[in-house]
Amino acid sequence: MHGEAATELVVDNHEQSDSVDNRVHDLLKAMGLDEKIGQMSQLQAGGGWIPDELADGIRRGQVGSVLNEPDVNIVNELQRIAVEESRLGIPLLMGRDVIHGFKTIFPIPLGQAATWNPAIIEAGARVSAEEAVCSGINWTFAPMIDITRDPRWGRIAESLGEDPYLCSVLGASMVRGFQGDSLSSPDSIAACAKHFAGYGAAEGGRDYNTANIPENEMRNVYLRPFKAAAEAGAASFMSAFCDLNGVPATGNQWLMKQVLREEWSYQGVVVSDWESIVEMSVHGFTHDDEEAAYEAAMAGIDMEMASTSYRDHLEGMVDEGKISLEQIDGMVERVLRLKFALGLFEQPYTDPSQHPEFLNKANLKAAKQAAMQSCVLLKNAQQTLPLSPAKLDAIALLGPLADDGFEQMGTWVFDGEASQSVTCRQAITELIGRTVEINYVKALETTRAASDDNFAEAISAVNQSDAAIIVVGEEAFMSGEAHSRASIDLPGQQQALIEAAASTGKPVIVVIMAGRPLTIEPLLPHADAVLYAWHPGTMGGPAIADLLFGLESPSGKLPVTFPRVVGQVPIHYAQKNTGRPATDETCVDINEVPPRAPQTSLGMTSFHLDAGYKPLFPFGYGLSYGKFQYVKITTSHHSIAMGQSLDVSADIVNMGSHAGEEVVQLYVRDLVGNVTRPVKELKGFRRVRMKPGERQRISFRLHTDDLAFYNRKMQLVTEPGQFHVWIGGSSDAPLWAEFEVHA
Ligand code: NOJ
Repeated sequence: MHGEAATELVVDNHEQSDSVDNRVHDLLKAMGLDEKIGQMSQLQAGGGWIPDELADGIRRGQVGSVLNEPDVNIVNELQRIAVEESRLGIPLLMGRDVIHGFKTIFPIPLGQAATWNPAIIEAGARVSAEEAVCSGINWTFAPMIDITRDPRWGRIAESLGEDPYLCSVLGASMVRGFQGDSLSSPDSIAACAKHFAGYGAAEGGRDYNTANIPENEMRNVYLRPFKAAAEAGAASFMSAFCDLNGVPATGNQWLMKQVLREEWSYQGVVVSDWESIVEMSVHGFTHDDEEAAYEAAMAGIDMEMASTSYRDHLEGMVDEGKISLEQIDGMVERVLRLKFALGLFEQPYTDPSQHPEFLNKANLKAAKQAAMQSCVLLKNAQQTLPLSPAKLDAIALLGPLADDGFEQMGTWVFDGEASQSVTCRQAITELIGRTVEINYVKALETTRAASDDNFAEAISAVNQSDAAIIVVGEEAFMSGEAHSRASIDLPGQQQALIEAAASTGKPVIVVIMAGRPLTIEPLLPHADAVLYAWHPGTMGGPAIADLLFGLESPSGKLPVTFPRVVGQVPIHYAQKNTGRPATDETCVDINEVPPRAPQTSLGMTSFHLDAGYKPLFPFGYGLSYGKFQYVKITTSHHSIAMGQSLDVSADIVNMGSHAGEEVVQLYVRDLVGNVTRPVKELKGFRRVRMKPGERQRISFRLHTDDLAFYNRKMQLVTEPGQFHVWIGGSSDAPLWAEFEVHA
């Protein structure tokens, strides 16, 4: 043992010797330097067994946390070694990626974001925590709140979409769901806001790639959800893999020290990502593991995930005086405090019989509800949907994802089981199978399959049916970590399958399961209705069946813009106006340009000759069986003073013949700013349920603080001036008004 000598754990005779402060203080006093560094180390579990090296490390107090062990007996044994066989008996943090469910799998986070429903998201995280704790897990690495505007990036699936406001609200709800009312309650787990920060802006959508984000953009967009997560009490943060403006996030002192610790006064644990400390040398930022450990420690990364550069080098650096003991103590203190907050010193063990069963009725109901609200109806020509079973003799059910319990769970599923999923085929059979014949043909072995050998059988099934439901998309592995795509078209022969079905003249309903927005423009002319279901999880089938057959109306809204073609990426609603914004009038179609057209006679605005300037579907878009009309927008004031609020209201009428829920959205534009402002920014949203013919007035209160942004000096300010405000059912909403803020 070097550096600091270990001492016996003698509890000081403080006035309240059992307060957490005192207990942390006593432990720190008793710990040797190697034991302190041990608390800063998180190691991979054996996965089903306990490697000797891990057990020895825990015994010697050299491991503070273990990740990826979901077997409760092994977890209990690891805790026993830590508590009974290590000198100071400090329990372990047990980490696991519980991203969108543990056994009961909810829609992928991007799908959950499409619910625009904070209560649904909180409930989902609650269920996930309640199930995860049964296995002794006390720390999840979620929510992922990286803003991303690039659907090529595989991890968009794990994100909450493109918008800082939506992501902030939903991310904070997820934190609350995981952590419950108190971290110490036996069914709470610590949340981890990740990946701090900028990871979603990886160049070209290639995972792990470089992010270059000007500080102003960083503060106005990328950091906002993290600030919200910190304010919601997220117990931990994880550093991003990426190089951020030339300095890897894991060693980025501006990010970790100045912003997180100094400006935000964040007190929680910061963990590195998997080997992201030693990868700083691969980035070319440090020479070796020792220097990488130094940079990470100096940035304030409290715990190293998976690699062992802290264990191997910190002690020496403290001995040499490069890193102070005080600094190490600060980091260890945060780890210990989290363990106390989780109640691990009082109860390190898990008794699964004390917890509700996995996949219980209530959990499945919550997962179904989430899946139902996550589905976005993109097209519904001539009210093809909902289908009425009474008017059907037979339906054809086609496609590689119609009956695949594994693929519908999506990416980041470690503990969910395909056998527990209810597929579309099972759910539709259950719902209407007694009276309607279901002609199922898979037609394509996988979403990527190239062979059309089974198309004849598929077409014959459609010919024998009244309508075709085709479930297509991407397999689970096609999104998620390291799984980016350069083309985001529907893979394989799925487009051809849809066209073949449509050639019969029967109504074609396309259900898409995917981890990202796909470029689906080519299929739209061949589909009468399109329901975007993301990867909907365990209860995807029943949710989709209920929507298709009208037991419930679709109510999801896109949390991310859908491009027409991949070359438009990044395309998002909150873009800047530019000096030459495109309009329908200025936007030229490449096919209509005459030969030898002079360069400057055309366009001269910001668009693509071959794709225009509009996306396929805008952020916030989604149809319903209800028909919501926004008829009047009013503001309570034309002008307000700084520090005041105004109410913006709209009347909404459900003109349709179905009840349904609508997500009413509020957008604002600040016309002139010290830095240019987006053409629209989401500032509020609300889900309302409306009966046919019902009229409701929906009001939002806007305070001048809600209009604040970081200016050129990186000050958060609201500037006096003119604002436009919209209320509607998408970011494309036409109904607007204006107001002024005066000094
Ligand atoms: C790497 C991923 O980037 C991170 O999100 C995850 O939590 C860790 N691996 C642990 O599995």
